Amino acid sequence: MNRQERLCKSAIETIGDTPLVELARLTARLDGRILAKLEYLNPGYSKKDRIARQIIEDAEADGRLKPGQTVVELTSGNTGTGLSIVCGIKGYPFVAVMSRGNSMERARMMRALGAEVVLVEQLPGSKPGQVSGGDLELVEQETRRIAAQRQAFRADQFHLSGNFRAHYLHTGPEILRQSGGGIEAFCDFVGTGGSFAGCAAAFKEFNPSIACYIVEPEGAAVLAGEPASAPNHRIQGGGYAMTDLPLLRPEHIDGYLKVADGAAIQMARRLAREEGIFAGFSSGANVAAAIHLLQTSLRGKTVAVLLCDSGLKYLSTDLWE
Ligand SMILES: Cc1ncc(COP(=O)(O)O)c(C=O)c1O
Repeated sequence: MNRQERLCKSAIETIGDTPLVELARLTARLDGRILAKLEYLNPGYSKKDRIARQIIEDAEADGRLKPGQTVVELTSGNTGTGLSIVCGIKGYPFVAVMSRGNSMERARMMRALGAEVVLVEQLPGSKPGQVSGGDLELVEQETRRIAAQRQAFRADQFHLSGNFRAHYLHTGPEILRQSGGGIEAFCDFVGTGGSFAGCAAAFKEFNPSIACYIVEPEGAAVLAGEPASAPNHRIQGGGYAMTDLPLLRPEHIDGYLKVADGAAIQMARRLAREEGIFAGFSSGANVAAAIHLLQTSLRGKTVAVLLCDSGLKYLSTDLWE
């Protein structure tokens, strides 16, 4: 029985089983379909609730996390929100470490959910709203310091398999079920790479010919082998210009796509106006990349994308005019 059909014992049980929607208006003049997974309908308004639940429950199951132990993680806000929900319900104090460059509604939301939020200043020259790999390195150092000081469990989203497993066990199979196995491609804007890796593994296991593309910001397409000429892009939640993403499996990557800030922003606005879907920058990037595929190499095909988080998380930015 899925969560719509039963009484849930807590908000944790409401994570996942999100709807899959065909973006029929955005693709009206194109040959092909885009199927969008509405991840912003999770309780913390992002796909990262899934990995928060998986990482914590995996660590509970094998004893790495003890009752009442503090949990710490570096976050651009979404993983932290998921962890705030899961840890709050399960009784683990949670410390979220975030760059000051991320939008502030995220910090306020985590605090409202009971988390302690530590904000880390950006590098000199970095701009608010543009978190670079260098900014993230400072957040990493602070996260390590706090984890050691408090003997905390590090919910390490860049390394722990729970990040992969959440999407391999749930997001990917849900898309396959909801589409009747009818997808031919998948493209995903990468932060830790957990969503891409988990979904791609599930898709390839079902049908190895489902083509899986990594989406990166123009100017920071390092996974595609380009130099990071403009690492301070606007697409929050990923594109950190990090070449070493341990969760990615090279054999599942069929290609790389680039999206400019302006294209991601324009597509997020079109999603809102034309499809009634209020999502963030990276969701816009995913749809822009999918449209590019339908216009070029994948005419007539069906492409799946994740709509990673809610547009409400960016009300303080100029995403919305
Ligand atoms: C809004 C948003 N989009 C995309 C991503 C990237 O997802 P992943 O870390 O699974 O690659 C994140 C990750 O934090 C995110 O918060």
